[in-house]
Order: sequence, then C-alpha cells, then structure tokens
Amino acid sequence: ASLKPFNTFGINANAQSYCDIGTIDALSTVLKKYHSKPLFILGGGSNMLLTKDIEALVLHINLKGIEVVSETENTVVIKAMAGENWHNFVLWCLKHNYGGIENLSLIPGNIGTAPIQNIGAYGVELKDVFVSCEALKIEDQSLEKFSKSDCNFGYRESIFKQDIKGQYIITSVNIELSKANHKLHMDYGVIRSELDANGITKPTIQDISNAVISIRQSKLPDPKKIGNSGSFFKNPIISLNEFIKLQSNFPDVPFYKTSEDTVKVPAGWLIEQAGFKGKRFKDYGVHNKQALVLVNYGNASGKEILELAQLIQSTIKRIFNISIETEVNII
Ligand code: EPU
Repeated sequence: ASLKPFNTFGINANAQSYCDIGTIDALSTVLKKYHSKPLFILGGGSNMLLTKDIEALVLHINLKGIEVVSETENTVVIKAMAGENWHNFVLWCLKHNYGGIENLSLIPGNIGTAPIQNIGAYGVELKDVFVSCEALKIEDQSLEKFSKSDCNFGYRESIFKQDIKGQYIITSVNIELSKANHKLHMDYGVIRSELDANGITKPTIQDISNAVISIRQSKLPDPKKIGNSGSFFKNPIISLNEFIKLQSNFPDVPFYKTSEDTVKVPAGWLIEQAGFKGKRFKDYGVHNKQALVLVNYGNASGKEILELAQLIQSTIKRIFNISIETEVNII
C-alpha cells in the first residue's frame, strides 16, 4: 500500500502491509498476534519524513471520540481519542468556549501524537493543559496511564521519544481547559499586531485562534497543497558563552533566554542567513516564507529531502558553529 496519502510530506513510500485501527479492542487483538513482528505506528503522519519503504505492518491509529470526563465551576477535563485530528479538536473546544489551546490552532497531526513531541506554538505547549494519557503497551497489551510528570515533557520532547520509544501506542489524552475567565497568551508580538490590525482590543479565545490561524497561513505552507512537516528542525539552545560569541559576529541574531545561562536561537534565522530560504532544488526545497520548513513540491523522494536537511545542518555548523537537530522523525 502507498503511504503517500498518510504523510503530510506527501512522500510516496510503500508499506509492506497496512491495517486501520478503529477500536482499542481491535488494537489489542492485532498486537496480541503481531507484537513481536516489525510494526510501524501511524497517527496523523505530520511529523515524519519517509526515506524508504516500510518493511513492517503499518497500524493506522483511527480511534475516535471526544468526551467531558469531569468538570468544576471553572474548569473541564476532556478525554480525546488518539485518532482525532488536533485542529478539529481545537475547533470543538472553541465551539464550547473551552480555553487553553487556542494558540495551538492549525497544528497538523492527531491527538495521539501531540504528547510525543509536546506540540507547541505562540507561547503555549501541550504540557500546559495536559493532565494524563493512556497508552497500550505493545508487548503485553496492558493499558497504562501516564501522568504529566510521567511524561517528562521538554521542548518538543517527552518520554515517548526517549526512554520508552517504540514501546507504547497512545490511545487517548486528557486535557484540562478553562470554562470562564480564560487566561489569554499574547506574549508573542505577532499575535498582538494581528489583533491590532483587526481593531480587536478585548480579544476572546476565538479571536486568538483566528489570529494564530491567519499568522500560520501567511507563513506556513498548507500540506494539502505543498507537502511539508512544519518546522523541520528544532531551535537550538546554546550556552550563554557560545551566544555571546555568536552575537559579536552576528549582532542582529534574534534570541530568547531559556535560563540563566542558556539561549534559544531561531533555526529559521540561521537557515535564512545561510542563504537557503526559498531555494528550490528539483521538486523540493526550503519554504520561501519560513526557512525552518522544508517542502515537497510534488514528487520529491524522502532521500532527497534528507540530503538537503544534511546540507543545511553542515552549512549551519560551518558558518555559525551550531548544530541543529531535526524535529521531524526521519524514517
Ligand atoms: N526567522 C527568520 N527567517 C525565517 C524564519 C524565522 O529570520 O525564515 C526569525 C523570525 O524573524 C523570528 C524568529 O526567527 O525572529 C522566530 O520565527 P517564528 O516566530 O516564525 O517561529 P520559529 O521559532 O521559527 C517556532 C516553532 C513553530 C511555531 C512558531 C510560533 C519550533 C521548532 N518551531 O518556530 O512550530 O509555530 O515558533 O510559536 O520551535 C512546528 O513545530 O512545526 C512549528 C511550526
């Protein structure tokens, strides 16, 4: 089966075999039989670059459902199943006036993959609203609960990418949101300017979502039109000493302090300075409005995009002496 429709990069790789999973029982049954065989877990397919055919049984996690599990006067806990599309979930929450994830509007991918890389944008991360998740252990099909602290969240990081990588399949996530007196996150200058431009002085969570959607649409390519996986690299975090050296050579470098002695530098800026922004090679390249995003214009192979990524990494290392890591999973 071709996986082209199932990955937002639009890479044409084949799966040895493929199975669509609609219930936890079905997942258990399949795992009981195949847990020791090569498996490949597919969610929204929005954070991976396929560089070869998948010699494994692909399990497409299609578990659906959204329900309120508990409520207080001001807060609500919602359980969403892994196969729900993240942005549809955000829209569902906005419709019910539940606040907390409006800054995470339009992020591609599914509920079940959101905790793996602790998705984040415009000053909010999943971990800020995350309560717990359930995951099926592949080996013995036990359903286990992970609390927020169990998950070890960091910048685009969690235990699911580290210690227990490949051992569990997330089946649902519990998220806590506000029902009233929403705390708005507008620390990102671009959000304020977008609201100002629309004459909005007292924004609602819906206004914030609209602002985020319009900012994202102006910078990030729509995967339905141009294949991509969002930010291809993580923003590097360097020591203050390294940063001082960098700044003396490149006085305009943007930065955010991440602690007393570490600084985050936008990889998009580094890549743009290195001259890659908007560069096209055959059927792939670097997006012209946001250099952190690599794109497939149609029929690029995963190998070609990987080679471009490696060229960018070595060029950034040479010019700035900074190593940038991929955010996207390279398969
Ligand atoms: N910049 C450039 N040139 C570029 C791109 C960015 O100079 O081509 C500079 C901008 O001028 C700005 C800085 O880099 O000073 C930051 O840019 P931006 O606000 O666009 O955010 P980012 O750091 O490039 C991160 C996330 C995005 C998220 C935005 C907004 C990572 C790896 N990426 O990007 O997440 O939407 O912040 O919060 O942290 C994703 O993970 O797929 C993703 C899109």
